[in-house]
Amino acid sequence: MKIEIVKDKEEMARYISDYLVTEISNRTTLNLGCATGSTFEEVYHRLVEAHKQKNVSFSHVRTFNLDEYLDISDEHPETYKNTMERLLFNHVDIPTHQRHFPPSDEHAEYDAYDEFIRAQGGIDIQLLGIGVNGHIAFNEPGSSFTSKTHKVALSKSTRKANARFFDSMSSVPQYAITMGIQTIMNAKSIVLAASGKHKAKAVKHMIEGKIDESLPASVLRRHDDVTVVLDNAAAKHLKEG
Ligand code: F6R
Repeated sequence: MKIEIVKDKEEMARYISDYLVTEISNRTTLNLGCATGSTFEEVYHRLVEAHKQKNVSFSHVRTFNLDEYLDISDEHPETYKNTMERLLFNHVDIPTHQRHFPPSDEHAEYDAYDEFIRAQGGIDIQLLGIGVNGHIAFNEPGSSFTSKTHKVALSKSTRKANARFFDSMSSVPQYAITMGIQTIMNAKSIVLAASGKHKAKAVKHMIEGKIDESLPASVLRRHDDVTVVLDNAAAKHLKEG
């Protein structure tokens, strides 16, 4: 696990977006695993700027989002699909048919998403945030390390953390579809980002604690190409060096 500690959230976004722009520019195809949440908002903003100001083309990029809410209408501005459109897709040249989300209708075979990703050549770079409880995507504590894309009931702490995007706690969705932990571990490389002191405990366990299903992100230490980008606040509990 490679660990990069930067000053603040802005530097974190710069580090990740510079890396992505380099990869997007150097490759003829790129399968990018996308995360939503506040951690990546500035990263997407910078990608849009790179497209507009430096003519960086995204036409060969295929995206695979980590997760999507279930009990929410398609028109709701906070679906992850609508969020991605607002932040990135409406402003860059990724063709519509190259943007993918986990199947979210009630009778779908959710793990078909794993097969689909594999058939597309697998994910080259997976972007990940981390929850205050150590979740990755919506794999909450206790999720199996061998899970594929599946339906989850969101934990109280995750619903509380996401309530800021909704009018009230009762309108925060209760269910979501998420890539499983195995789905994520199948990615060729992973970039996990965390900023803010509220993430510091989960970050410490991920890096220094036991590799255990009680803290889903700890599994990433078993992957051989993971970069963790932290700001000082998120890194504050880590041992020196
Ligand atoms: C979002 C996702 C979540 C977030 C995590 C951190 O697609 O899968 O796991 O990455 O909850 O969220 P923020 O970035 O809002 O702190």
